[in-house]
Amino acid sequence: GGPTPVVVAVDGPAGSGKSSVSRAAAEALGYGYLDTGACYRALSWAVLDSGIDAAVAADVVAGLDSFDFSIGTDPGNYFVLVRDVDVTQAIREPRVTGVVSLIARVPEVRDWLTRRFRGIIRSTPFDGIVVEGRDITTVVAPDAPVRILLTASEEARMGRRSKELTSESPEAVGEALRSRDRADSRVVDFMTAADGVTTLDSTDLDFDQTVAAVVELVTTTTSRT
Ligand code: DC
Repeated sequence: GGPTPVVVAVDGPAGSGKSSVSRAAAEALGYGYLDTGACYRALSWAVLDSGIDAAVAADVVAGLDSFDFSIGTDPGNYFVLVRDVDVTQAIREPRVTGVVSLIARVPEVRDWLTRRFRGIIRSTPFDGIVVEGRDITTVVAPDAPVRILLTASEEARMGRRSKELTSESPEAVGEALRSRDRADSRVVDFMTAADGVTTLDSTDLDFDQTVAAVVELVTTTTSRT
């Protein structure tokens, strides 16, 4: 890889499929992959683990000093560690999802993690990296050559989430999704494409078509001379 990887910034709401699409696009392109939501989740896991009250911002901020996490950027070998604990699965648990919006709304947390994201991007061994989250196109990597807002209708997003969480009723999934979008959109506006950001609406696309559309946007941009 070169000294500055090509950054592909992907934002979108929960259930837009952006994590799996971004990871598959990274694999197809031979790029790295950074799931920033997983880092917010890892911090949330650490906060719960240490008994800090997630609702007390000052305590969460004080805990940043000892927050030691790492995340893999190889799309074929995805893992999230807090200290030496593998939390790849645990960060998807409802108890973590339940507090992550509280933690993500703290400005000092966002600044701290944004600095970490930029460091991870700079040091990825790949020629490029697909970075996925809520504020990548606007805050983390506003200068990225490729910036995508991945959207889907609420109905489509609920349908996809229900398929992932087969043990929960569609009503419960829909309500959880709506309430998290509400909480998250108070912090960053991930529903409106910022200037120069390409909106990719996946409502009527299947998974492979969505991945192909992302790959196409990257190859047309990077082959332009
Ligand atoms: O994409 P996800 O569901 O794993 O994200 C987890 C939480 O982190 C989500 O509630 C929003 C927040 N988040 C954020 O505020 N900014 C990001 N760049 C990524 C995630």
